[in-house]
Formats: sequence, structure tokens, C-alpha cells
Amino acid sequence: MIIVDHDEVERVGTRVYEGSFVTDVKSFPVEPWPEQGNHAAHFNLSGNRLLRAHIMAVPPGERKPTHRHVNEAVIYIPTGHGYSIVQQEGKLERRLDFQEGSLFSPPLNAYHGHYNGDAQQWVRYFVVTNMPLNQVVYGVGERKIYERFVFGSPFLFTERYNGEENYFSVNERLGPCRWKVNYVKDINEIPLDPSPERGAGARTMHLEMVGNTTVDVQISEIPPGGCQVAHQHIHEEIIHFFQGEGYTVIRRAGERERRKYLWHAGSLLSPPRNSVHQHFCTSREPARYLSIQTEKLMKAMGIEARQ
Ligand SMILES: [Fe+2]
Ligand SMILES: [Fe+2]
Repeated sequence: MIIVDHDEVERVGTRVYEGSFVTDVKSFPVEPWPEQGNHAAHFNLSGNRLLRAHIMAVPPGERKPTHRHVNEAVIYIPTGHGYSIVQQEGKLERRLDFQEGSLFSPPLNAYHGHYNGDAQQWVRYFVVTNMPLNQVVYGVGERKIYERFVFGSPFLFTERYNGEENYFSVNERLGPCRWKVNYVKDINEIPLDPSPERGAGARTMHLEMVGNTTVDVQISEIPPGGCQVAHQHIHEEIIHFFQGEGYTVIRRAGERERRKYLWHAGSLLSPPRNSVHQHFCTSREPARYLSIQTEKLMKAMGIEARQ
């Protein structure tokens, strides 16, 4: 892992780490992030141009200020517990209680704030956003313009969320390997469907969350001693392993050598675009991982190629 020490430090507010792999998001060092009033570490993984990840940490009993943005964001809780408040302007607040293993996504430009509900333990959030994509669309070199729009837009995306009472309890099968859900209390409660095309015994589920169009969520399982079929795709992918142990073999585009990454619950891996990669489970329990990716966006642009 390499520390980037150029102007990204100033632009994001904390160090930005580069690389493809993080051993454990539960223990990775975070530093004060004054801009957001909490602690964080930011990652630009595998040269991704559309997705960025960060770990955000809130001390015991503290809260993160309420804010809103026109970035899509997916949040997974690797450790700790507490609650988040989500509010569409002019509508009632909704409270989402979370614990280790919770998964949610603040609806686009709805206000949200995060609270640590424990007097002793820090809470950590693993967050993936489409911020780099929006920086390109709205002007990567024009931070003030980007910020004014993304963090200051008054537009209400009421077609995605309009304060509906049961919005965060939606739990609906859309078809094979496809589920609609706007809040997941425990990621292990999501049913997974057999996906033999991904490997013997593999199971998976795509989640449609809060109307997101650029950040997809997928949960996958590899049986003990099993592996997934080696595959390659142009979309970006950030993987968080949350159960089991194993390794991934990656051959980057244009390289002959293969690299091996040993992972366990808590590890983070982003296979580079167009790399050939294959996951192997070595634990007695199935390996499970959360994959946050841009496949849907690529398909919408007509340039997806998966092999
Ligand atoms: Fe946010
Ligand atoms: Fe992949």
C-alpha cells in the first residue's frame, strides 16, 4: 500500500492510499478528518476512475454531522453499532439502527447523519461512492464547483425517496439472483441463489438499493474448498470479504505474472479493470463477500464486456 502525498491530501482532507488490497478495514489506521468532523482513511484502489472507498470512524458516543450529497454511496458496517438518521427535505426523519454486518445507502441527496451508539467502542463505516465519476462529470479540477453542486444542490430526488414510511423495510425478490432492498440490518439475512455459472456451489444475489444507477451491490458466496470461475470485466469492482478465508489470484492486463492476495473477513480487494481474477475459499465455512461495482453503468453505456 502506497501513501499518496500530492495534492489529493489537501483535496480530500486526509491521506489517500493507493494499491489494490487492504488487509483489514477493522484495524486500518484512520486520522482526523476535520472537514467531516470524524476520522477516516481514503483509498484510490487499483486506479479506479469511477469508484472511491473510504473508512470512516466515529468515536464512542459521538455523531457525524448531518449532510447530503448528489454522490451515490453504499455503506457497510464492519464493526460497532449505532444508528443513522435519514431525512428527505420536508418529510419525517427515519432512523436506521445498524450493527456489524449492516448495509445501507443514503438515498440520493437526502439528509443523513451517523451516530455511534456505544459508550466504549468506535464504530467503523466502510463506504464506496461514485465521487470520482461525479468529479469528472462536474469538473475534476474545479473543486468549488463540484462541491457546490454535489454537496449544495437543493434538488430533491423524490422519485427515488420521498419519505415513505415503509421505504427502508422494502424486501422483495425481483427475479433470480436479484433482490430489491433499501436497508439490510444483517447482510447474512440476504438469501443467495445458486449461480453455477460462477463456479460449483457458488451462490450470489444482486441488490437493487434506493434507486442507485451507478453503484451496484452484489453478495457472493464460495463454498468451503471451492473457487469461482476465473473472469475478467471492464467495470470497476471493490470487494469486501466479510466471512471465511481464502485467496485471490489476479493477472493484470498486459502482464504475464500472477499475483496472489490472501484475505480473511475484513479484507478489501479491488481487482483492476480487465484483470483476470479468481477467488478461492480455503476455510471450513463458506467465504462471503460484498462486491460494489459499476457493471450496470457500463452496460447502460454499451461498453460492458465480461468473460
Ligand atoms: Fe454521506
Ligand atoms: Fe470480478
